Amino acid sequence: MNDRLQEMRRTYAQAGLDVDDVASDPIDQFQRWFGEAQHPCLPDWLEVNAMTLSTATKAGQVTSRVVLLKGVSPDGFVFYTNYQSVKGQQLAENPSASLCFYWPHLERQVRIDGVVGKVTKELSDAYFRSRPRESQLGGLLSDQSKPVKNREVIEGLFNDLEKRYAGTDIPRPEHWGGYQLVPHQIEFWQGRPSRLHDRICYMLQNDRWNISRLCP
Ligand SMILES: Cc1cc2nc3c(=O)[nH]c(=O)nc-3n(C[C@H](O)[C@H](O)[C@H](O)COP(=O)(O)O)c2cc1C
Repeated sequence: MNDRLQEMRRTYAQAGLDVDDVASDPIDQFQRWFGEAQHPCLPDWLEVNAMTLSTATKAGQVTSRVVLLKGVSPDGFVFYTNYQSVKGQQLAENPSASLCFYWPHLERQVRIDGVVGKVTKELSDAYFRSRPRESQLGGLLSDQSKPVKNREVIEGLFNDLEKRYAGTDIPRPEHWGGYQLVPHQIEFWQGRPSRLHDRICYMLQNDRWNISRLCP
């Protein structure tokens, strides 16, 4: 298998990226790239809003997982989860986090470093209400990241809650809601031939975004 792994490589040649091509604001640039990532011919399985979220304990033990981007604005990048999960516990003790998007169909990566805080209860309520009922029940019952004896326990809880809330609105549990990552560094990576990739990096310095090219 290692032989095969060592032979696996692609040449990236679709596009280039230069300091002169990018928007002066990285959120505008992100929205531009995100728009391009949502090509109408994309297969259903490709979730362009899926991003790797890395968080860490205070001691520096890092954990990564995929979550879905559910909002982006000049204020930052929003995702929803269980506040008592591993990521929730890590963000409570260390709000520094990182997001990473990989869009293979465009040979692009975006990395975003910043500081995470909870969104308002009103925003979490509004998003919770917009979710399908089954997802609301899932959010209500799941002790995310805690051990559970077997799947039957989870399905039993789901069925109980389904009956309990039949015909009524499901309230958003306090332990479930949104986080917003406020960025201080965003890097746009475009794959190029010969591994001479283009990397354009925005760093927030004295409330201004400085743009520079990084070595590949
Ligand atoms: C494509 C994809 C999308 C996901 N979206 C979310 C999400 O938006 N929120 C969430 O809490 N978990 C999401 N998950 C599950 C997480 O990756 C993870 O398993 C879960 O949040 C528990 O992580 P933790 O134990 O590190 O807190 C998603 C997983 C995948 C593969």
